[in-house]
Amino acid sequence: MNEEMRAFFTPPDLKAAKQRRRREVSVLEFDQIPEEMRAIGQGKKYMIKTYGCQMNVHDSETIAGILEQMGYEPTESEESAAVILINTCAIRENAEDKVFGEIGRLKTLKTEKPELVLGMCGCMSQEESVVNRILQKHQHVDLIFGTHNIHRLPHLLKEALMSKEMVVEVWSKEGDIVENLPKSRQDGLKAWVNIMYGCDKFCTYCIVPFTRGKERSRRPEDVLAEVRELARKGYQEVTLLGQNVNAYGKDFTDRDYRFGDLMDDMHKVGIPRVRFTTSHPRDFDDHLIEVLAKRGNLVEHIHLPAQSGNNAILKIMGRKYTRERFLELVSKIKKAIPDVVLTTDIIVGYPGETEEQFEDTLSLMKEVEFDSAFTFIYSPREGTPAAKMKDDVPQEVKKERLHRLNRLQEEISRRKNEALRDQVVEVLVEGESKKDPDVLSGRTRTNKLVNFRGPKHLIGGFAHVRITEPRTWTLRGEWVGEASVEKVGS
Ligand code: SAH
Ligand code: SF4
Ligand code: F3S
Repeated sequence: MNEEMRAFFTPPDLKAAKQRRRREVSVLEFDQIPEEMRAIGQGKKYMIKTYGCQMNVHDSETIAGILEQMGYEPTESEESAAVILINTCAIRENAEDKVFGEIGRLKTLKTEKPELVLGMCGCMSQEESVVNRILQKHQHVDLIFGTHNIHRLPHLLKEALMSKEMVVEVWSKEGDIVENLPKSRQDGLKAWVNIMYGCDKFCTYCIVPFTRGKERSRRPEDVLAEVRELARKGYQEVTLLGQNVNAYGKDFTDRDYRFGDLMDDMHKVGIPRVRFTTSHPRDFDDHLIEVLAKRGNLVEHIHLPAQSGNNAILKIMGRKYTRERFLELVSKIKKAIPDVVLTTDIIVGYPGETEEQFEDTLSLMKEVEFDSAFTFIYSPREGTPAAKMKDDVPQEVKKERLHRLNRLQEEISRRKNEALRDQVVEVLVEGESKKDPDVLSGRTRTNKLVNFRGPKHLIGGFAHVRITEPRTWTLRGEWVGEASVEKVGS
């Protein structure tokens, strides 16, 4: 490795990623891409394969924005791509297995086409074990960068194009905020908007605080300006993103401004729908509930991960709330917003979880009646405290618990959707249904998928649809007319 290469060999360090100092967050402005780099991609194509959560989906839009400023154009075909980037997720082992499968598969293409740049980014890049494995077993990878240095992509890509060695640059630090990054959004109707980065919760099973750094909030004026600009461009919906949006603003030293305040300001912005994800139950305060109850463009859907219904398990998960506190929060929310749709995440088979403890999760599900749930079998992540706990629940038992939980949730989801029969809902019409081009497809304020027959000109706007055939995961209905969405604020 030559001296210059060393500058591009910074591997990850999980221990460093775990540290939280009291250092102030720097807000950096993304510099214009230097003139000499703007032509690098001229006449060439790129492809990004994205795994993981909405945060990653949106990061891919940033990466696409940068690549397009470098002259690259998007493609759907691997064969015609000059750059293929895999934006990875580290949340569970099966997510990682898929990525390694993909990297292995792409070896053939890379051998046939040595000029192809094959890169990996995202949360897996932040893990030492992953980067070591790539260095040892997947030498056909050209470039690895992490979640903190996406803005460095032009330089790293240039280096990867010139160098024969693998370019690795991963920063294991708490993280800064980079404003003004270019974005190439994939959808013209609905947009993702970061309001904060990172996570300080350190739930004992979770890798995210290691891969995404500390909680840091974007300044409200930057977030609001971005949303106003999206509204001006014709976007109908924004989803505000953070691993724990309820911690928004906790890190500000110059002002007292929290998530409730941000939502109150969003309420005045002229964009028809504002969603957010994800909420941590612990930081969900009364002011926020009060603001959400104003409705308008603030939709009646809250994703509120419970993870478990048992206090002992919640305690070892480090969730910092009890079943009782969770239920109390749910009842406050339901009181303020009676038709709210709540959805959740649940982990089954936590180390040491007994049958009785699992049954507490089932009873919590029955009590809350979430409209839907993402359910997972616990997956040990290297470097997290839970990975060191004794995991004595057999895999078969974990699978059986997941199955029982899913059956119960299906029954609840079906019942919840059945209650919508004959009701008229407001649908943001996104396009033709995937299965039948004569059918239109869109989402309710509560994010439920609705299919119905109607004229194509409805696409991109709002329609009123009467639900005629509720199903477990989707709703079928008939068009009753165009909905006029009340314009709010300026
Ligand atoms: N920040 C979000 C969660 C992001 S990860 C939040 O706190 O709600 C999405 C979900 O993946 C989590 O809610 C959890 O249910 C699940 N998850 C995270 N780590 C996991 C692990 N090690 N094994 C299984 N599921 C996990
Ligand atoms: Fe992970 Fe917990 Fe942070 Fe969510 S709140 S990202 S589950 S550590
Ligand atoms: Fe996965 Fe990273 Fe998101 S681990 S869930 S892509 S924050």
